[in-house]
Parts: sequence; structure tokens; C-alpha cells
Amino acid sequence: FFCFVFLSSVDSQVGCDDEYADIDWDTVGFGLTPTDYMYTMRCSEQNYEFTEGQLNRYGNIELSPAAGVLNYGQGLFEGMKALRREDGRLVLFRPDQNALRMKEGAARMCMPSPTITQFIEAVRQTAIANKRWIPPPGKGSLYMRPMLLGTGPILGLGPAPEYMFLVYASPVRNYFKEGSAPLNLYIEQEFDRASRGGTGGIKTISNYGPALRPLVKAKSKGFSDVLYLDSVHGKYIEEVSSCNIFMVKENIISTPPVKGTILPGVTRKSIIEIARDLGYRVEERPIAVEELLEADEVFGTGTAVVVAPVGSITHLGERVEYRTDDNSVSKRLLSAYVAIQNGFMEDKKGWVVEI
Ligand code: COI
Repeated sequence: FFCFVFLSSVDSQVGCDDEYADIDWDTVGFGLTPTDYMYTMRCSEQNYEFTEGQLNRYGNIELSPAAGVLNYGQGLFEGMKALRREDGRLVLFRPDQNALRMKEGAARMCMPSPTITQFIEAVRQTAIANKRWIPPPGKGSLYMRPMLLGTGPILGLGPAPEYMFLVYASPVRNYFKEGSAPLNLYIEQEFDRASRGGTGGIKTISNYGPALRPLVKAKSKGFSDVLYLDSVHGKYIEEVSSCNIFMVKENIISTPPVKGTILPGVTRKSIIEIARDLGYRVEERPIAVEELLEADEVFGTGTAVVVAPVGSITHLGERVEYRTDDNSVSKRLLSAYVAIQNGFMEDKKGWVVEI
């Protein structure tokens, strides 16, 4: 009844009867599949506070050509997933962490941000309104994309006078065309992803545009993605364009520390905790590229990629291969991570939030 009243107040054409959208769930990848609703909430110049968000039909948004986000890149985004479990529950994973990260990014980009409660409520409402797009258990998830945009017009360089927070959603499954097969990474020499004092540690849209040229070049040579080195020494590994990076040597797991140039991934943080709970030693420390090339195993973590095994890394023309068998550390961590999300393993830390 609640569902009917809620949705009929938004749009009378969609009811709760359609359990699933009419698509082939087996062919879902990471392309955009437009869903029914998106959420928007505006913030005015007067009080710099977000008030009264709403669900609307999914569609284009209208922007001034002088919008801060278009001219000066004042924008942030988040990535999170709504899952349908076998027990029928619909869940989010640590949504407070994404809300917090957006708040921190907003401070760096001179933007007001929604409160943690507003952020989570917006994501929850968007997921429920698009419930029929949450894939059947085991067939992927509904990727939620919260965004914070400087929408007000501004000509001279400065913070925009108005902002919009929005959430849209798309069903997704595997991020890479390789599916869950191991990735082949290319170590970038010419371009950097982030610089000291820059914005590599926040999820601003302006970190991603410059990553396209190296990515397109690497893909044209058959690689899955690009691994970046630090911009000061060109010696330490930092991050892949789409995810954080980990290595395993003699059962010790290591990953670069998040100190401003690396995105503090929610999956990264969760995998570190899960690994420690499983008894692994995990070190967050600078990793020189030579050390990475000597590793037993390498894997990436991220909301989109989840836990992705790396089969090879190519550095200055040399290709190094890594272990990716079923007994690998990354497979063990992936299983535990998926088990917590799906309720097969106890969620001791209260990470899973039912919507
Ligand atoms: C995510 O993992 O959610 C991201 O935002 C990465 C993006 C390149 C798809």
C-alpha cells in the first residue's frame, strides 16, 4: 500500500506490480540503461543549504551555458550499488561512507553538500523508485550515481551561486568487457593522474576527463586499464583509472596509502578490514613499481569493478604475469565481500543497510 501511494504520488504509470523491468538480465554490462526515476535537490545562493529534494522522471537536466560545472569543473560524483538478495531484501552497502566522501570533496571544491541523512535518503528513494531495475539476485546490481554540480551561472572564476544534487541509476554487472577474467594493466609513463596538493583524493569529475587519453591509448593496444605512478618521483604505484590497487607477496597484502593523491575507496577500505579479520597482514605504504613487478598477486578494488584480479602488468615493454587461480587471496576476499553483502556471512560491522 505504501509503495502504491508513494509511487502514485510521483507518477501513476509505474506501479509495484512490475517486479522486473523487461530486459535480458544476462546481457547487462556497464553501459547506461536509463531507468524510471532520478532524484534532484537544489541549494540556493541565499542559505547554501539543500532543502526538499524530489523524485522526477529520469531525463535531461537544463543548465545555463555559464554553469560553474560546465565552465570550471565544479562537480563531484559518487558510485554505489543497490543489491537484491536471495532473501528478497534490497540493500545498500555503507552508504554513509559515500555521503562522507562527497562532503569532504565538496569542502575541497567550495561547494555546499547535502547532509549525510539527506544523501542516504536520496539514494534510498531513488533505488526504491527504480526497484524493477534492481537485477535478480546474482545478476548484478543497480548502480547509483549521486552527483553534486555547480549549476549557477558564473563568468569570472569563483564558486557557482547555485548547486544541484542529483541521483540517477542504471542496472550493471561486470565493469570490464573481460567479465570476471583477469585484467591486463598498462603502466602509464607520460601522463599523471594526480599531483601533490591537487584533487586526486576526492571524486571530482575533473579527475576523470584527463584519464581518457591514456585509457583510450591503452585500450587500443588491448589493455584493460591504466595504472598510474606518483607524479613526484614517477616511481610509486598510485591507482588505476577506475579502481584502487593492491598487491600480495608471501601472503602479506599491501596497498598505497591514501594521502591526497589516491581516492579513498569504500571498497578499498572494506577489503582492508575484511582481510585483517580473515587474519591477513595488510600494509598501507608506498609501493615502488619494481616491488609490484615482483608480487605474487595483484588486484583492483572499487564499487564498479568490485575485486578484480590482475593477470598481467606491462611496464616499459616488459609484461609480468600474476597468480589468478581459485585459491588466490583476491578470490578469497571477493567471496567474503560478496557474502557479507548478500547475507551469507554475518555483517558484524553493520555495513549492509536495508532499504
Ligand atoms: C566506481 O567504482 O563507482 C567509479 O566511480 C569508477 C568509475 C570509473 C566507474
